[in-house]
Amino acid sequence: MVKIEKIIENKKQFLDLLLLADEQENMIDKYLTEGDLFALYDDDLKSVCVVVPINSETCELKNIATYERYQGKGYGRKLINFISNLYKYEYKTMLVGTGETPSILSFYENCGFEISHRLKNFFTDNYDHPMFEDGIQLIDMIYLKKDLQNNRNLSQTGKTKQKKLRDSIIPKDSKITE
Ligand SMILES: CC(C)(COP(=O)(O)OP(=O)(O)OC[C@H]1O[C@@H](n2cnc3c(N)ncnc32)[C@H](O)[C@@H]1OP(=O)(O)O)[C@@H](O)C(=O)NCCC(=O)NCCS
Repeated sequence: MVKIEKIIENKKQFLDLLLLADEQENMIDKYLTEGDLFALYDDDLKSVCVVVPINSETCELKNIATYERYQGKGYGRKLINFISNLYKYEYKTMLVGTGETPSILSFYENCGFEISHRLKNFFTDNYDHPMFEDGIQLIDMIYLKKDLQNNRNLSQTGKTKQKKLRDSIIPKDSKITE
């Protein structure tokens, strides 16, 4: 049976999973102490995620990872649904930042996030080595957002606006599974 637990003590025991999503340990240290860490178990440990407060209206998903052999089985989505429900009473919006990796962007869009904005040179300025994901160098951070309190489907105007924004951020020749 799937169960999700909030982890209070000894958060570093999950470092192997956290490093799948964020490969530099000192970057993880910056948010792990103040962040809320959740672990998903289905018999044994499958996924973790970390959420931090940003301000009175916004929180940010800082890390989410599923062990490689269990990816694509719905555990990541379950964790996102769980934290979306948990934080909707406290925050209006959940942000998540990621590299320009089409598969990860598709994952978040599949889980109800929409593209918000870009932070130029985040990865080249903040990490001590060049980082690559699916063969693409990570340079800018792409932020996506999820409205926690009004979990509606986007209107047609909203969808068109979102598509324009997405096309301006993600080059058309990138392979993104819709
Ligand atoms: C990203 C990650 C957390 C997703 O976790 P997961 O447990 O595999 O996700 P799920 O199985 O719940 O997938 C949820 C949805 O996203 C989609 N999805 C998942 N991985 C995807 C991929 N690589 N490409 C496109 N869509 C993807 C799934 O198809 C699913 O949609 P569906 O339910 O409509 O089929 C996992 O792949 C992972 O740990 N990756 C390495 C760490 C990482 O990069 N974390 C993100 C850092 S920003």
